[in-house]
Amino acid sequence: MDETNPLRSGRRLSRSPEPSALIIFGGSGDLTRRKLIPALYRLSQQRFLPAGFTVVALSRSPMSNEQYRAMLRTWVDKTAEDSPFDLATWESFAQGIFYIPADYRDPSSYQKLVNFMSEIEPARRTGGNRLFYLATAPSDYAAIIRNLGSANLNVENGSGWVQIIIEKPFGQDLKSARELNKEVSSVFREQQVYRIDHYLGKETVQNILVFRFANEIFEPIWNRNFIDNIQITAAENLGIGSRAAYYDDSGALRDMVQSHILQLLALVTMEPPPNFSAEAVRSEKAKILNSIRPFSPEGVRRFSVRGQYNRGFIGGKEALGYLEEPGVAPGSRTETYAAIRFLIDNWRWADVPVYIRTGKNMPKRETEIAITFQRTPHFLFRQASAEQVESNVLVFRIQPDEGITLKFIAKLPGQSMEMQPVNMDFRYGSTFGLHLAEAYERLLLDCMLGDPTLFDRIDSVEASWELMEPILRAWNADQSSPIPQYASGSWGPREADELLARENRSWRSL
Ligand SMILES: NC(=O)c1ccc[n+]([C@@H]2O[C@H](COP(=O)([O-])OP(=O)(O)OC[C@H]3O[C@@H](n4cnc5c(N)ncnc54)[C@H](OP(=O)(O)O)[C@@H]3O)[C@@H](O)[C@H]2O)c1
Repeated sequence: MDETNPLRSGRRLSRSPEPSALIIFGGSGDLTRRKLIPALYRLSQQRFLPAGFTVVALSRSPMSNEQYRAMLRTWVDKTAEDSPFDLATWESFAQGIFYIPADYRDPSSYQKLVNFMSEIEPARRTGGNRLFYLATAPSDYAAIIRNLGSANLNVENGSGWVQIIIEKPFGQDLKSARELNKEVSSVFREQQVYRIDHYLGKETVQNILVFRFANEIFEPIWNRNFIDNIQITAAENLGIGSRAAYYDDSGALRDMVQSHILQLLALVTMEPPPNFSAEAVRSEKAKILNSIRPFSPEGVRRFSVRGQYNRGFIGGKEALGYLEEPGVAPGSRTETYAAIRFLIDNWRWADVPVYIRTGKNMPKRETEIAITFQRTPHFLFRQASAEQVESNVLVFRIQPDEGITLKFIAKLPGQSMEMQPVNMDFRYGSTFGLHLAEAYERLLLDCMLGDPTLFDRIDSVEASWELMEPILRAWNADQSSPIPQYASGSWGPREADELLARENRSWRSL
């Protein structure tokens, strides 16, 4: 995105991060074990971490440094994917990992942290550079931030910098996002705050901008004159697993739409920024989110659909219904599926519908953005049947099998003028032959380099909650009409198909 961070994968960074300490709240948690530490290990394997890089992890579980390192090692091993575990890299990385058993609700824990930092920083020569990471339940963010402030851990003294990464979700709605931001900004300056949405760290998501703004041929047709509609799908083929405590209070709208899907929507529809500085890119994203038409109560009724999975089969295996999942409240009305039609009120996109859908327990795990172009103005080949003359579609495949496909019509070989849609395909894997870096690798490194381009600025966060607000309010107010159901292993409730059918369109079949 910027000159300081070229695509990595074997290439050198033009600038190395300064030595620093990463202080993780939630050290024993799922995110730290499965994502953060494996990402840091891989960065260290590629020699992208600075000398003396230090991890200080806090949580209540009693563990010694050795026990903590051993526990993390098994997770690094488990998540290694295609690169074999490298013991020498691990040992050199692990000697910089420290664990403090502490309750972050207890103010004395922060004094413990201050004392520990004053010992470890000179020893590891991290120069007082500190990066806090909130990998805890979101309901604890405000208290941790207040405590960091009271212990002066937010203060940049001498040459060291202090930054904080805050995991999603940032708030539960507009009001709580604003309240949380008030807490954050009373302790940290906006430039110190990195609100993470790991979707933005995905290579293919960043490639949307490269595709649009580094190629001449697409941008001139990237508008209402050529594009009929945009569809964004984020489908998961799993249910909520053991995350009922979080998910049942959250639902698909908060979990997926407010963050990941609106970010994808913004990248694919925003105007070209004047340059690739963090502020220019983030300003365009905020501008487009503010151009999406807000919903009236009637708009919510007409243009949004929620759903909940019931029993079914996924890949031949029987799956439970949402209400049967352990930990879900009896009679819960939480949506596990959401579909919405958005309109963008600006010159480029007026009247072009953007349909989004996301759901759990769907037939496949697949995230894509599909741009469907308008039909040809005058069709010459009258003998062709309707299904032979589908519109051109350009698809960004975000996961899995990352790549880009352009569908167009070709003549079938033979004497008659028969035609068929065919695909022109770009696949990251086969073109570059590289394992794509995990989103957290990129984002942790960006943060150490002080580059906030791929992190959410508060105006975007508020704009996306503002869009969700009328939908959340209307869905919450309606406590009586049945939640549309869909069988596990299907593509969602019938009502979502009707949403598009009313406009003579249908969801792409994936
Ligand atoms: N997991 C993911 O893949 C994922 C993906 C995207 C975003 N996130 C976000 O990341 C955050 C963390 O998620 P998670 O799945 O890692 O949660 P988690 O597994 O429940 O971890 C929570 C952590 O907080 C610690 N903790 C809880 N209360 C504490 C206290 N009073 N004092 C000190 N430590 C305490 C827990 O350790 P002890 O019990 O040992 O104290 C644990 O280490 C959430 O905001 C989530 O939305 C997670």
